[in-house]
Amino acid sequence: MKGLFITFEGLDGSGKTTQIALLSDYLKRKGLEVITAIEPGGTALGDKIRHMLLDRENAGMSHKAETFLFEASRAELVSKVIGPALGRGKIIICDRFFDSTIVYQGIARGLGVEKIMELSLWATDGIVPDLTFLLSVDVDGGEERLSGSSKSRDRIESEEDKFKQSIYEGYLELSRKYSDRIILVDGKQDIKKIFGQIKERIDRELDKL
Ligand code: TMP
Repeated sequence: MKGLFITFEGLDGSGKTTQIALLSDYLKRKGLEVITAIEPGGTALGDKIRHMLLDRENAGMSHKAETFLFEASRAELVSKVIGPALGRGKIIICDRFFDSTIVYQGIARGLGVEKIMELSLWATDGIVPDLTFLLSVDVDGGEERLSGSSKSRDRIESEEDKFKQSIYEGYLELSRKYSDRIILVDGKQDIKKIFGQIKERIDRELDKL
């Protein structure tokens, strides 16, 4: 079987973690081998980079340094986990991938979409997700979930609402541009309804394998 690479995107607090857990369980119950990963992170080196990126003590990090750290973590994840797993025909579900860098660094930080795309494709050796679920919640929706969660805010979650608004809009723009790959899902619906839509799309994808 050919491998399948699925990614989830959205603002912090959009419900990605819950949906990834549901999808992973669903696929495993079908007897499929599933690998889940998170960006930044997912490897020994990537976990260290994640810590640097999210540490609030690094509040003044330059935008370019931030971008290279995300890409470094991604290059390691692709070379150690995603590339080999796809080669063995596995299903990989990744919590964020380069669409995050396009939107957060390319659009919200203003570094440019083309530049980030070029860097990202270099980091991934040209690997692009087969399917991306964008769980769309507006800034207020994401903030509501974040304030209800017990984890304290990291460096990026602490950014101001203006930054988050441009991420929200950037994601919508990206989903229109890559509408074949990026599936826009209304993240404000209840958990079961969201998962129903994801499951329906995944079942169609599995039939093609
Ligand atoms: P997480 O909390 O969803 O694991 O992601 C960590 C934070 O890093 C989140 O606020 C989004 C941000 N991020 C970027 O700014 N650029 C990227 O390329 C990635 C993968 C995440």
